[in-house]
Amino acid sequence: MSSTYDQVLYPSLAFSETHPDNLAAIATLFGQTPPTGPCRVLEVGCGDANNLIPMALVDPQSHFVGFDLATRPIEAGQAVIRSLGLSNIELHTLDILAFPPSLGTFDYIIAHGFCTWVPGFVLDKFFAVCQAHLTPHGVIFASYNTYPQAHAREASRQILHHQPPGPSSSRVTDGKHFLSTIRDFVTDPLWQATLDSEIKRLGARPDAVTFHDELGGAYNCFYVADFVALAARHGFQYLAEALLRPTLRPNVPPETLAELRALSQGDEVIFQQYLDFVTYRGFRRTLLCRGDLPIQRESCNENLLKLRVASPLYFISRNPSGSETFRNGGGPGQMQSNNPFLSAVIHRLEAVWPRSLPLAELLPDWNAVAETPFFDQLISLAVNGLLFLRHADPPVASPSKVNPTANPLARLQAASGTLFTTMLHTQVRFEDDFSCRLIALLDGTRPVSALAPLIKGAQPELIATALQSFYRVGLMIA
Ligand SMILES: C[S@@+](CC[C@H](N)C(=O)[O-])C[C@H]1O[C@@H](n2cnc3c(N)ncnc32)[C@H](O)[C@@H]1O
Repeated sequence: MSSTYDQVLYPSLAFSETHPDNLAAIATLFGQTPPTGPCRVLEVGCGDANNLIPMALVDPQSHFVGFDLATRPIEAGQAVIRSLGLSNIELHTLDILAFPPSLGTFDYIIAHGFCTWVPGFVLDKFFAVCQAHLTPHGVIFASYNTYPQAHAREASRQILHHQPPGPSSSRVTDGKHFLSTIRDFVTDPLWQATLDSEIKRLGARPDAVTFHDELGGAYNCFYVADFVALAARHGFQYLAEALLRPTLRPNVPPETLAELRALSQGDEVIFQQYLDFVTYRGFRRTLLCRGDLPIQRESCNENLLKLRVASPLYFISRNPSGSETFRNGGGPGQMQSNNPFLSAVIHRLEAVWPRSLPLAELLPDWNAVAETPFFDQLISLAVNGLLFLRHADPPVASPSKVNPTANPLARLQAASGTLFTTMLHTQVRFEDDFSCRLIALLDGTRPVSALAPLIKGAQPELIATALQSFYRVGLMIA
């Protein structure tokens, strides 16, 4: 049976926050002992598996299963898997309602963009599958649209659905035009502001996403408390969010946090709900674990010491006061450290980026460290994307590699686009023709000196600079 996801392909990406290593790191932070090492991963409604395939590519010891109701995306994913010669991933065209028990158990179950866009009975089945197939210390990733911001999304969605009749091929364009027309007639300032922000949101997204997300059939948004209550009925509890910022440093002043904590009377889920009310939250990426596992919410500092850390920061200058300035090698921003322990850690990490080191091994005297704001500062770096927590490194290369090799998936992507998946499960864009051609050539058979003659007009210095940036973004395989 053909679905709308067969008619219009859904643009899918690799989402770093769904990666099992990220799920394991956050679970560890909260006192869990999640499966590490070779594991089994399931992605529900995986589309063309743009999220799952790069995971399988960098972790040959683990096994990955993805499925989707739509046939065309699954076939597209299977073609990529064949091109890459991967044997640790399987994709199935499958309705979750017919999930076969023979698929086995999984340490991580990922549902990205699924829970909001399926009817309630399908969501119930999703949790039943998790109940039957998640290993005892496994982690579920589930994203979903949340109230209160979902009210605005529902309003614009309803307007799109009520557009005048017209050709089905232009429902998205006509719907967006209709929404703008309605907005122009509105006089109430609050309603104007709501529609303006919805018009802006829809204008920034590919029409194929709007076709499904706004004009599709099933659409269920949740109060986080209700979503967690539904999960609890199936034996699961709230663990955290998959991103560190909302988990550890929600975007509200400390005194607001304290008030909300007091109002929620020690109930973490109620606290999360109150946060959503205050921050007008519209989307969550929630991690769930089995209901019988004890969660440590107050021991993040000690638990950090069980993890590896990596940082793209590099040293810029030592200031007269003794503090040191570091710049972000992975994007904008810099930071100043006046804590010698923190500076020492960043120097060690700078030398190995994009690889990580075990935090516990980075400093000799943790008692002395604990007397400084070190852990707080480390968390600040992490929530700002300047420090990454890991359990294990992907096989990512440092610039010493003799015959440079780009991620095979990126080499495949070089044939058709400018967006490349890294070994770190992130995406980088290289718009220029030179970079795309160079990535395609980096198959590990050529030394650096052999590359310049293969690209017309390329100077060796240009190649060296490009390679350096490929290594820094984690595009190169060890
Ligand atoms: C909004 S898309 C999200 C795709 C992808 N996970 C992402 O985030 O980019 C929802 C996906 O769920 C799939 N889906 C919906 N109902 C399903 C069902 N009953 N069984 C399996 N997949 C389903 C759709 O075919 C579609 O690919």
